[in-house]
Amino acid sequence: MSELRSGTADARAEGMRIALVPTLGALHDGHFALVRRAREVADLVVVSIFVNPLQFGPTEDLDRYPRTLEADVAQLEQLGVDWVFAPSVAEMYPSGTIQTRVTAGEVGSLYEGRTRTGHFDGVLTVVSKLLNIAQPDVAVFGQKDAQQVFLVKRMVADLNLPVTVEVVQTVREQDGLALSSRNRFLDAKEKRAALGLSIALEAAESSADRGIDAVLAAAQSVLMGESMVQLDYLKVVNPETFLPVDDGYQGKAVVLVAARVGTTRLIDNETIFLRGVGS
Ligand code: PAJ
Repeated sequence: MSELRSGTADARAEGMRIALVPTLGALHDGHFALVRRAREVADLVVVSIFVNPLQFGPTEDLDRYPRTLEADVAQLEQLGVDWVFAPSVAEMYPSGTIQTRVTAGEVGSLYEGRTRTGHFDGVLTVVSKLLNIAQPDVAVFGQKDAQQVFLVKRMVADLNLPVTVEVVQTVREQDGLALSSRNRFLDAKEKRAALGLSIALEAAESSADRGIDAVLAAAQSVLMGESMVQLDYLKVVNPETFLPVDDGYQGKAVVLVAARVGTTRLIDNETIFLRGVGS
């Protein structure tokens, strides 16, 4: 930990730009896209791999979350990553339970935060710890977790953190399924059903010029047609506030979807351009 901090401090003293890519590990092409972007915008790339207990609820999949550290490190080496930071839980939380946390506020308790109480406080707390340890110029995140991106950006602004947030578009399989470390839990049938999420988002996008009701109806009808998909939420939010858009809203909006397929919880989102009906 102190080694990383002094390593990045030395690099900065030599005029290098440093990027941090925070991850939970079990890396896939979505993570690698972030790493590639980090290499484009910085001279030294640090990837953190840490399954952060603070962002998992008591009934969530902390224990079964995939851990593939050796393979992750080998792939990151191939991509030319300079530093893999994979601390233990004891290193990150030496006193067991952490007393001081960053809170994510109102938006932190909506959507993902409503189903996963305390999740975003855990995310923001660990992200701020990682930023303090690595002290990067740039931190790279994926749009796949749109609410996380919104909250991290707001934390950076609210707390005047000296870092730029870089966002990479969602990487998908050819059929449209957003890559996720949790996809490995899906069997073939569930994987087909999981496609319903991205198909619903496409349907939402195609209906965007007919207004919000049409968007929701189009996405819902796809999701209702997939009996293996248990919808958690489907929302259309304003990207500036991350609050649900009003009826007459026009402009950029983000459609958020979360669902359970079998025992696996998946999320996805798409940015659309809403036109008011009749405009
Ligand atoms: P994790 O789920 O491992 O994701 C790490 C980063 O990879 C996040 O920024 C996420 O948005 C991005 N990512 C995941 N799947 C992606 C995809 N298909 N396309 C593009 N980017 C993708 O998100 C976390 O870890 C944690 O909450 C973390 C930020 C590390 C804090 O613990």
